[in-house]
Amino acid sequence: MRVIVTGAAGYLGGHVVDRLANQGHTLTALVRDATHASAWLRERARVVSCDLAVPIEAALLEGHDACVHLAVLWPDASTQPEIDDITASVRLFDALGRAGVGHVIYVSSAAVHRPFCAGMREDDRLVGADAYGAAMIAGEALLRASAATHGFRASVVRAGPCVGPSADPDRAPKTPNPIAAIHRALVEGRRARVVAHEGRQLTSCLDLSQTIHLVLGDPNAADTLLCMARRTTTWAEVAHALARKLGRTELVDVTPGERDDVSFDTTRIEGFLGRVLDADDALDAHLDALIATTLHGR
Ligand SMILES: NC(=O)c1ccc[n+]([C@@H]2O[C@H](COP(=O)([O-])OP(=O)(O)OC[C@H]3O[C@@H](n4cnc5c(N)ncnc54)[C@H](OP(=O)(O)O)[C@@H]3O)[C@@H](O)[C@H]2O)c1
Repeated sequence: MRVIVTGAAGYLGGHVVDRLANQGHTLTALVRDATHASAWLRERARVVSCDLAVPIEAALLEGHDACVHLAVLWPDASTQPEIDDITASVRLFDALGRAGVGHVIYVSSAAVHRPFCAGMREDDRLVGADAYGAAMIAGEALLRASAATHGFRASVVRAGPCVGPSADPDRAPKTPNPIAAIHRALVEGRRARVVAHEGRQLTSCLDLSQTIHLVLGDPNAADTLLCMARRTTTWAEVAHALARKLGRTELVDVTPGERDDVSFDTTRIEGFLGRVLDADDALDAHLDALIATTLHGR
């Protein structure tokens, strides 16, 4: 298939490009500035400059079968609604529909389920509890609306905090905030304070890219999938693992906390991939890459 990947130079974009190129798809990587694209990305995709903050040239999109939308336009302040991101997404979906692209996969986030509760599932009613989650809810809704208007297929894959080394070996991985905070404290010789039992169901980047590859090829795939490990990884586990690797075990403080029953139900993704997802190896490799990045200043 001829596939457009937005955000192709980003962390998850690299994994999706790598997987789809290895599967023989012909890729157009949309990046903000093609002159900054790495040789690694150029070997796998035709790299094209496309700033999604402004209207898109239709010619860039025509002749493609599908698009995986991963670009995200972050706001300048955390309190500011992510209006630019929503505007960019809806403009992209509409342009893809007009260009006759038949399938759009939107990588959304488990954050759309906030406030979290027990047994969260793909078909839950979404409420929104912060600007990021609300922007993703809006993105999902606008994708469905564009799909209905233009008649293309729409798929949503919701990820948890993603872990794994970058696909491009010269790039540092993007690290989920709680893990980055623990790492920063340990490297700076400060105490890493975590609350017992707190954590998240993580997503291995390899599971995410495999899911996207399989959704592309399977017209019967569910239109929404939560892609994440069944098991919750606690921040205490992360802190202990990082501290061991850094030789700083004395710096980990685990404050007692209540065990909650927050969880995502992973039945649907396990049925789709035919296995239980597990992010342990991806996390371990991520922590090694994070430490290497600090050591080598990448
Ligand atoms: N990473 C996670 O843990 C995680 C978890 C759940 C969901 N997600 C979602 O997955 C998607 C990808 O995340 P990521 O971690 O790969 O993010 P990322 O590394 O920050 O990549 C985002 C990409 O968006 C592109 N972008 C920003 N502004 C743009 C603009 N005006 N025009 C065109 N492209 C623009 C950037 O392109 P340039 O590099 O060309 O500037 C960047 O490569 C996001 O929607 C994110 O919310 C991520």
